[in-house]
Amino acid sequence: MTTQPKKAQYEQRGPVPQDVIHAVDFELPPLQAGQVRVAVLAAPINPSDVLTLTGEYGLLPPLPAVGGNEGVGRILEVGDGVTGLPAGTVVLLPVGCGTWTTHLTLPAKGLVPLPSGVDPVQLSMLTVNPPTALLMLTEFVDLQPGDWVIQNAANSAVGGYLVQLAKLRGINTINVVRRASAIEAVKASGAEHVVVDAEDLPKRVRELVGDVPVKLAIDCVGGVSTENLARCLVEGGTLVNYGAMSGERCMISPRYFVFRDIVLRGFWLSQWFKKAAPDKRMAVFGEIAGLIAEGKLQARIQASYGLDDIREAVAAAASGARDGKIVIEPNGPSRAAI
Ligand SMILES: NC(=O)c1ccc[n+]([C@@H]2O[C@H](COP(=O)([O-])OP(=O)(O)OC[C@H]3O[C@@H](n4cnc5c(N)ncnc54)[C@H](OP(=O)(O)O)[C@@H]3O)[C@@H](O)[C@H]2O)c1
Repeated sequence: MTTQPKKAQYEQRGPVPQDVIHAVDFELPPLQAGQVRVAVLAAPINPSDVLTLTGEYGLLPPLPAVGGNEGVGRILEVGDGVTGLPAGTVVLLPVGCGTWTTHLTLPAKGLVPLPSGVDPVQLSMLTVNPPTALLMLTEFVDLQPGDWVIQNAANSAVGGYLVQLAKLRGINTINVVRRASAIEAVKASGAEHVVVDAEDLPKRVRELVGDVPVKLAIDCVGGVSTENLARCLVEGGTLVNYGAMSGERCMISPRYFVFRDIVLRGFWLSQWFKKAAPDKRMAVFGEIAGLIAEGKLQARIQASYGLDDIREAVAAAASGARDGKIVIEPNGPSRAAI
């Protein structure tokens, strides 16, 4: 385990995300009453982390900042007055606390203990992408077993979680990717129907699954991909956008709103967090943590990096055609750790 505390910090934002971040040494502050010291086990690099470094995300922390929005850690030491969280407990790190660091010193209050004996890398991705997939499946359309959903960027982490969660609910998915080389990985995550995006997407979908009524379309690409999905929907269907991987605005003809009564909605987990009642939040995270612990919900991992290679890691996360997530394990490989 690394002894010198280190964090991946940035003092400015810029168009090339890996150019602004670097690893710096720091001193651990004295542990105060009510606090715990945590060794970070794993933290992913999500597209939102990359957009935070370039300054394009909807929520930007003040500078200087430490990268990383989510992750898990193990409690090393507890301050006076802390009960119920003994040293050794694996905890979910608070959202937005700067997780690309070897150590965090955090208030014990509000920390969520996680099941033991579970791969920390899978647990580290619990906060952002799985609830996004779950909520998009459940909050917009009252889907029943046997219903059909279509999504693009289906080889993304969100896409993989959505396939798994839909399957558990008996919901059928049509999975759109932008390159044929991604098809096998999506099938390996449990998807039966995978198709490459194109102008003639509705025809390709019909050839694949027949003339099924698709009630919900889920878009994180934007550009013409948004309209390609809309054209696959049943009259009155709902299209939910939650990202813009193409960097383009959603391009969709008014004809789909006017003549086919398509509804276009947006989803942002941060907004949901703010508005959702605490018991609803607990229910969503409880379901997801349980499924990950049981091995029923997982994401593919392309590579894991230490903090000294943070620039390489960010560059890898910002590049396309990956086969899974890039994760940071600040204290070295953590899979065998619990
Ligand atoms: N709104 C919310 O609350 C919320 C929450 C979580 C995530 N998100 C968004 O969800 C999306 C997926 O996140 P993730 O962590 O699952 O992503 P990820 O695992 O890093 O995968 C990225 C996906 O984007 C595709 N992609 C990359 N560049 C593209 C381009 N120029 N045009 C079209 N597709 C492109 C990739 O396809 P290739 O493999 O072919 O490159 C891949 O399918 C992101 O946009 C993220 O910001 C939103």
